[in-house]
Amino acid sequence: MRTPAVDATTLESLLYSAVAAPSIHNTQPWRFGMDADTRSIHVRADSRSLPLTDPRQRAQHLSVGAAVFNLRVAAAHLGWDPLVTLLPDPRDPGLLATVRLFVAAPDAQPSYAGLYDAVARRHTSRMPFTGRPVPEHIVLEMVKAARIEGAHLEVPDFAGTRRLLSLTAQAEARNAADPARTAETRAWVNTPDMRLPHGIPLTSLGPRDTAGRMPMRDFTGPLPGLRPPALRFERHAQVALLWTPHDRREDWLRAGQAMERALLVATRFGVRTSMLHQAMEWPDLRATMAAPRLRCRPHLLIRFGYGPEGGRTPRAATRLTPTDETPAGTDETPAGPTGGTG
Ligand SMILES: Cc1cc2nc3c(=O)[nH]c(=O)nc-3n(C[C@H](O)[C@H](O)[C@H](O)COP(=O)(O)O)c2cc1C
Repeated sequence: MRTPAVDATTLESLLYSAVAAPSIHNTQPWRFGMDADTRSIHVRADSRSLPLTDPRQRAQHLSVGAAVFNLRVAAAHLGWDPLVTLLPDPRDPGLLATVRLFVAAPDAQPSYAGLYDAVARRHTSRMPFTGRPVPEHIVLEMVKAARIEGAHLEVPDFAGTRRLLSLTAQAEARNAADPARTAETRAWVNTPDMRLPHGIPLTSLGPRDTAGRMPMRDFTGPLPGLRPPALRFERHAQVALLWTPHDRREDWLRAGQAMERALLVATRFGVRTSMLHQAMEWPDLRATMAAPRLRCRPHLLIRFGYGPEGGRTPRAATRLTPTDETPAGTDETPAGPTGGTG
């Protein structure tokens, strides 16, 4: 029997889901190509990067991993059986993954149950949560989701949570005291009139915590009036640390898939999420976040709870690039959505 080709409409819906993934500062650091002969989608790193915040491009790989996970979910939803190969070609380091589409067996068990709808509904929520605890069975589902993808999602006790938030607050203070990092972050914030396809609109930013307990990232820096007025955040935060035992590029891509799977599971249960990545941006604080676990490479602190939906962030129109394109070739601007010299 001939295997059907992937038509343009299918490809469009696959990529639509892929780019709904979260990405650091909404950089959307991915590009896609289609190899029609092997029915494989090629996922490449894009040149939009954050040299100060993410010099090793670990967060970029997490973001691309999340897009790969969404591709898998959408492909399964459309009746395909996706096979992912991470870093398939050592001679082509910019090719981060291929997703090969096989026709799913007619009796295949539904995978990723309920996650497809969550892809479009998930948004980062930087607002205060109500403080109503997320029940244990939902937390366990999130932990299981990360484990299926080969990562650990660890929910600390009260003292552990305070410790991780305190380290994140230290990182946030260092970022705020560093004019170059503040400028890099600020370059990814958009005002409504800018209508840019990358970066975070002012309307999606959150307030500061009046009690000073929740170290939400300050994207706007010292510019007055850009951030909404401060509010009181939940007293007992629920957070989870995402980590892998190794720190290679494939581990980052796996962690990104685990992150997105856990976020989509949370969304399916009506749980809101936001990310606190600041401590991962300072090697000494990242190492302290890991302690006392041995062989723990932390990637992200995920905050979760009940509360308002997060604001929408834009996405660039998806267009395919030829699959044999060299990683360097791009017409995108590297230093921020407004351009710059990088
Ligand atoms: C690796 C990674 C790190 C992130 N770090 C932060 C963070 O420190 N603070 C924050 O408010 N959002 C953080 N985010 C969320 C992104 O800003 C968000 O995904 C992006 O703006 C797109 O918005 P959306 O998640 O609502 O689709 C992070 C996302 C990723 C993937």
